Amino acid sequence: MSKKDEIVKDRIPRHIAIIMDGNGRWAKKQGLARMFGHKQGVTTVHNITEAAAELGIGYLTLYAFSTENWNRPKEEVDALMTLLVDTIAKETPTLMKNNVRLLTIGDLERLPQTTREKFVGCIRQTAQNTGLNLVLALSYSSRWELIEAAKRIAAQVNAGTLDIDAINEATISDHLTTHGIPDPDLLIRTSGELRISNFLLWQIAYTELYFTDRLWPEFTVDDLYEAIIDYQHRERRFGKTSEQVKRES
Ligand code: IPE
Ligand code: IPE
Ligand code: MG
Repeated sequence: MSKKDEIVKDRIPRHIAIIMDGNGRWAKKQGLARMFGHKQGVTTVHNITEAAAELGIGYLTLYAFSTENWNRPKEEVDALMTLLVDTIAKETPTLMKNNVRLLTIGDLERLPQTTREKFVGCIRQTAQNTGLNLVLALSYSSRWELIEAAKRIAAQVNAGTLDIDAINEATISDHLTTHGIPDPDLLIRTSGELRISNFLLWQIAYTELYFTDRLWPEFTVDDLYEAIIDYQHRERRFGKTSEQVKRES
């Protein structure tokens, strides 16, 4: 029996988020420059996206570049921006073939113009696709997003169009860059690091976390299946007792 057959079809997570980490260490292990790791990482993105689309997952959010990643050496940042442009050009037909709709979250204004334009073009081209929503987090950080949300909510209070007492969970969710996207059910982080690194802090309040030592360039479709199977063995209680959850299911 293959790993895929172990997946319970009616309990597929609706939204999987991934912190794709370990590209640099993977390259170093082969005695190569860090960029080779990023290039190999793109192949993993291709394979995992196709597998997620095939499984019928609704949303796959990939952390591709954080706000803090702008602090990396300029050569690496420049090379990553070029790699993003090349990847979009190369992968758009794959997205079309798999009925995948591309979305982005993050501060796209900070991206170089050519990189931003490529993404906007691909988002437009794939807008009518009805399968997997592939959400790329680019120049994204949760604290950035929460600050922006706070500013816009405060402006509405200031203008008298929003009552302070009317602010609730939905008000916050609706002002985040992820508005309209359901919270992740499963968050995977590769490379053995046990941290969140400023990713979707609000949205993962009740997300199941899965950490693997596998480095992103070596993460396989079977590894994805394994994470999903692990997720399917968990009991999500959302603060209730196990007995309550069993009764309701
Ligand atoms: C993840 O791999 C990709 C990005 C953050 C852009 P890293 O580049 O962080 O690889 P490591 O963590 O140094 O191995
Ligand atoms: C997190 O990885 C960001 C992305 C995967 C894009 P980092 O490699 O930047 O995280 P830290 O610095 O190890 O926490
Ligand atoms: Mg890293």
